Parts: sequence; C-alpha cells; structure tokens
Amino acid sequence: MKLDIAVLPGDGIGPEVTAEALRVLEVITKRFGHQLHAKEFPFGTGAAARSGKAFPEETRKACLGSGAVLLGAVGDPSFDSLPPSERPEAALLELRRILGNFANLRPIIAQFNPPKSPFRDEALENIDLLIVRELIGGIYFGEPRGRDDDGKGSRAWNTLVYTSEEVERIARVAFEAAQGRQAHLTSVDKSNVLVSSKLWRDVVESVGKDYPKVKLDHMYVDRAAMEIISNPRQFDVIVTGNLFGDILSDEASVLAGSLGLLPSASIGGTVGIYEPVHGSAPDIAGRGIANPMGAIASMAMMLRYSFDLEEEAAAVEKAVGLAIKDGVLTADLVGSDGARSTKDVGAFIADALTSTA
Ligand code: NAD
Ligand code: IPM
Ligand code: MN
Repeated sequence: MKLDIAVLPGDGIGPEVTAEALRVLEVITKRFGHQLHAKEFPFGTGAAARSGKAFPEETRKACLGSGAVLLGAVGDPSFDSLPPSERPEAALLELRRILGNFANLRPIIAQFNPPKSPFRDEALENIDLLIVRELIGGIYFGEPRGRDDDGKGSRAWNTLVYTSEEVERIARVAFEAAQGRQAHLTSVDKSNVLVSSKLWRDVVESVGKDYPKVKLDHMYVDRAAMEIISNPRQFDVIVTGNLFGDILSDEASVLAGSLGLLPSASIGGTVGIYEPVHGSAPDIAGRGIANPMGAIASMAMMLRYSFDLEEEAAAVEKAVGLAIKDGVLTADLVGSDGARSTKDVGAFIADALTSTA
C-alpha cells in the first residue's frame, strides 16, 4: 500500500516527538512492504515567523491532498499576548475544521504507574477508557464571539452552540465505539445549567434507541471530573463536547501515567489528523527529554483509522508496551534519574519492531 502523509511537526517538542513517530513509521512500513511517502510542511509558530502565516497555503493544500496528517503540537509563549484568533492554536482549529474531523478519539489505558503517582497500583488495574470528544463545534467555534474594549471597561463573549445534527453524528461515533468495546457509554454534559447541554442530552438519549445493546448513562461534567480520578474503572466510553473533552482528557492522562503517553485520532472528515493530546511543552522543549510515546501511538492510530492497517497498528502499540515494560522511559514517567532520551525511546521501539520481523 502507498501511504501519503502530510507531516506537520509544529512547535516546541512537536518536532522532537514527531521525528520519533516517523522513525518508527519508516520501520513498520518497510517491515510490511508498504510504500511510505511522508513530507513535512510548515505549521504553527515557526511558519508564522517565516511567512507571517501559521497555516500557509502550501500546507493547507498538502493536507487536503494527503492520505493522513501526522501532527506534533503548536503553540509558543511568544504569542501568548495575542488574541486567540491570531495565535498558532487557531491554525490547528482551522485544520480540524477544513478537514471536517468532528470526532476526536482519545484512548486512555493505565499501563504504568510513575514513582510519584498519586495513585496506588491497585487503583489503576484494568483501566481502559476512550474519550470521544466533539472537535469542530461547541464553544470553540460558536458565533457570535468577540471583545469590546471601550474607555469604561471591557466585555468579551463566546457562544456554546450545538445543533442536533452535530450531536447526533458524534453520538453515533461514540455508540459504535462502545459497541465494539464494553458496550457502556457515559455522556458528559452540564444540562442542569446550559440549554445547549440539554439539547446534547436529549439527542444522545434519542440516538441511544438505535443502540439497545449499549448501556447509556449521563453525568454532569463536574461530577465526571471527580469520578474519572476516584472511580475510573466505571468508564468504558465517554462522549462529550469540545471544551469538556479537552479538559477531561488532560485530567484522565494522569491515569495513564503522563500526558506524554496519550495519542489521539481526529476523524469523521475527509482526511484524518493524528496528534498526541499534549501541547508544545515549552518548559522542556529543545532538551531531548520529551516522551515520544503519545506521538508514536498517534501514528499507530493513523495506520488503523486512515489506512485500515490493523496488524501494523497493533505491532506498533505492542512495541510501545514493550518499552514501558522494559523500563525504557522518559523523565515524565520516571523522574530524571534513570530517564532515557526522546531519541532512545524512539530507537528502542523501532528496534523492537525490526527484531520481531
Ligand atoms: P502542554 O501539554 O504543552 O504541557 C503540559 C505539561 O506536560 C508540561 O509540564 C509539559 O512539559 C508536560 N508534557 C507535555 N507533553 C509532554 C511529553 N510528550 N513528554 C513529557 N512531558 C510532557 O500544555 P501547556 O503547557 O498548557 O501548553 C503549552 C503550549 O502548547 C500552549 O501554547 C498551548 O496552547 C499548546 N497546546 C497545543 C496542543 C496541540 O498542538 N495539540 C495541545 C495542548 C496545548
Ligand atoms: C488539544 C489542544 C487544542 C484544543 C488547542 C491547542 C487548540 O489543547 O488538542 O487538546 O484545545 O483542542
Ligand atoms: Mn488540550
């Protein structure tokens, strides 16, 4: 098979972790006899500094014409004072929107309990949950939004809007996912306060009638934030809106051991985007210590969802699991003593795939 991939390394640790995902991708495609065509394109702060645009036209065309997009991360503190629409993060939202990827799958599996973990080992047994986050609607995209500053004071507003169609399509993705897992779906909303959340709950409830084998329940987001930490085993699939999904997935990453472990797939549109859940991590960028496992596992999701290469995806995930088991781990998991570099971890995973060929 020919794999045509637009690679957007982005900012901060983005290029560092993406390089390792590419290293592993080269090995796995070679092993299974696929033809890899992966090309890098400017995106984010670096692109903005060079061309004035965080999402250059060349990159837009390449993504639209590719078989899948592999992305690192965007964002840089030097842009922090700008309004959101002028920050590189806006380029990422635009990319998701133009590709139509309304469903963001964020699997969380507890595989490693770091020495400084707030959890007892037993608390993390058999934790395997999937957050299905709506990605191109809700308060991230709602209109009107804006800001007025006059001499007397300021006012700024966003709109949390969902249509029944938007809720229905993400609900279907979540029910389908649950059907292939433990058949339990928890829809998370704030319908005790927000009218938009009430619509969300009504639509999810009605879509549920098409999935009688899936046990559906609803939970308010404040309670969900507490239950994810105190009783995570109760969850199989969680479906929620854009903002709640963003927050709950970073929270749930603590169950996995580190934010650096979490992968994601943004699907449902024309071309899938595969990106780790974490950001550009400016606090550790350039030091070669970032965890590349989230990026590598995102690449595995790309093989599965965009190219239907389940065996290849599973092999990559198994190799990541082996690195965890063998203790080949970055500082976010084990602290600086005994930690391995980003490159060491990537090389170990690539070697594991070569040696089991
Ligand atoms: P972040 O996810 O970049 O970092 C949060 C914390 O986790 C930091 O201490 C960081 O060092 C650590 N961390 C993150 N990924 C890691 C990895 N792979 N290995 C080891 N440690 C890791 O979140 P932030 O600091 O709030 O945001 C930094 C910038 O990234 C901001 O500009 C933000 O907008 C952007 N951001 C981008 C994305 C994306 O591109 N998808 C996602 C989240 C945040
Ligand atoms: C994520 C990030 C993005 C989001 C930002 C960088 C736009 O936090 O992918 O989780 O909020 O969706
Ligand atoms: Mn986020």
